[in-house]
Amino acid sequence: MKDKFYVTTPIYYPSGRFHIGTAYTTVLADSIKQYHKLKGEDTYLLTGTDEHGQKIEEKAKEAGKTPKEYVDEMAKMAKELWAKMKIEYDDYIQTTETRHEKIVQKIFDKLMEQGDIYKGEYEGWYCIPCETFFTETQLVDGKCPDCGREVKLMKEEAYFFHMKKYADKLLKYYEEHPNFIKPEYRKNEMINNFIKPGLEDLCVTRTSFDWGIKVLKDPKHIIYVWLDALTNYITALGYLSEDDTLFQKYWPADLQIVGKDIARFHLIYWPIFLMALDLPLPKTILVHNWIMMKDGKMSKSKGNVIYPETLIERYGLDSVRYFLLREMPVSQDEIFSPEAFVERYNFDLCNDLSNLLNRTVSMVNKYFSGNVPQYNGTPNNVDKELEEYTLQQIEKFDEKWNNYETANSIQEIWNLIARTNKYIDETMPWTLAKEKQTEKLKACMYHLIENLRKIAILIRPFMKDTADNIFRQIGIKEEDMKNWKYLKDYNKIQKAQVIEKGEPIFMRLNAQEEIEFLKNVMKK
Ligand code: ME8
Ligand code: MG
Repeated sequence: MKDKFYVTTPIYYPSGRFHIGTAYTTVLADSIKQYHKLKGEDTYLLTGTDEHGQKIEEKAKEAGKTPKEYVDEMAKMAKELWAKMKIEYDDYIQTTETRHEKIVQKIFDKLMEQGDIYKGEYEGWYCIPCETFFTETQLVDGKCPDCGREVKLMKEEAYFFHMKKYADKLLKYYEEHPNFIKPEYRKNEMINNFIKPGLEDLCVTRTSFDWGIKVLKDPKHIIYVWLDALTNYITALGYLSEDDTLFQKYWPADLQIVGKDIARFHLIYWPIFLMALDLPLPKTILVHNWIMMKDGKMSKSKGNVIYPETLIERYGLDSVRYFLLREMPVSQDEIFSPEAFVERYNFDLCNDLSNLLNRTVSMVNKYFSGNVPQYNGTPNNVDKELEEYTLQQIEKFDEKWNNYETANSIQEIWNLIARTNKYIDETMPWTLAKEKQTEKLKACMYHLIENLRKIAILIRPFMKDTADNIFRQIGIKEEDMKNWKYLKDYNKIQKAQVIEKGEPIFMRLNAQEEIEFLKNVMKK
């Protein structure tokens, strides 16, 4: 049987257009999915929208719509963006769908019956935009510690989840599963900031608003949005439903990706809910940092937001996906800088990658009328060195990619591109041609095409169109030659023909003009 790979993004709040920061998680998730798919695994990517709660209720009112009308429109908008970004999700869940709501109610009842949920009274400081209660000591200058906005003192009859009961079990789980949390420092953060000081029982219902899933047996209570939202990862697979085939096949998730602001919910509450349900935990939860702007957090009110569509329309999708993964933040916050974007475009994509392809295609045309020469399989010294280097880079890429160090792993591909460009300078094909050293010239052309094929495979998870374009230009047609199956082989290309006239895949940008353009867009 094939290995399976189930990966999830957070489900987004439908509270406005998605900026480049929100798109980051999904691009990362899709790229990781594509990688596993190209390795021949049975992959499944889930994304969706988190549609209940007071905040959404208010947003809908502002827009003059019913909450359901409002969230459906937002989900449609999200799907349009994902289509534009070629996000190949396998399912899109909206938490207002019956398939989700029914199961959340079942889960709630089950947890109540087994004594994990009990009734009590809640008093605390509530931040409406964040949908979160805080204790007095968690507040920062009397304001919400997450968003800095005003909080309200609220008291209500409520149901609680017995978190304390699971604290030791969770700590033990962390300890015994070193791959559970990535990067590792997030684990220490959870232990030191939340678990060691003592886990508070979590309030899991509200009575102060309507827009949510009702507790079946006590319908004036609405199930708290985090219990509702987190369970999407299993309700989407049909957990506790009549048909749970997907759940049986894909759970536990192989990877769940979340931003740092929701780390606590995913690293503490989510695993505890799963333990209470007696379900296995996801293999890895990857916490990424944030894309910032020079003046801090991206926000509409500050007017410093950059939208993915803006970049895609002007520079093409692949440069955006490349930039996000190459430059942006798995383990630390990064500032989005127009200079960096344009530089990466001109140097990495244009000078390094596009030129390698162009030089190669034109030489194969010039020396062999476009026919990729056959290779006799006995490399010269320079060829052998290149082969060894290439195989080593593939290993390095794989190792880092599988450890979810995307920027570093992509760097290894660009090292390979640089090495392959250098190989042209070392072998000097123009001299080989002049001196009629045909065997050497053949081997050289063959290795260039082979390396371009390998490079195209390696970038394909995150730059699909560019990879396809490279395959087309160098005449690689069979699907098996475009995935991991023969990635490491050096003697697989049969009778390939490059296109007659190479087409640049990335054209040099006028740096000054584009930096200016981006700075203006960001001011708007
Ligand atoms: O938190 N850079 O939804 P959300 C990088 N509904 N990532 C960013 C970012 C930035 N500037 N801004 C936001 C929610 N994100 C909940 C999730 S899951 C059961 C419920 C990320 O729409 C953020 O960290 O506020 C989060 O991972 C995702 O976008 C969705 O955020
Ligand atoms: Mg948020």
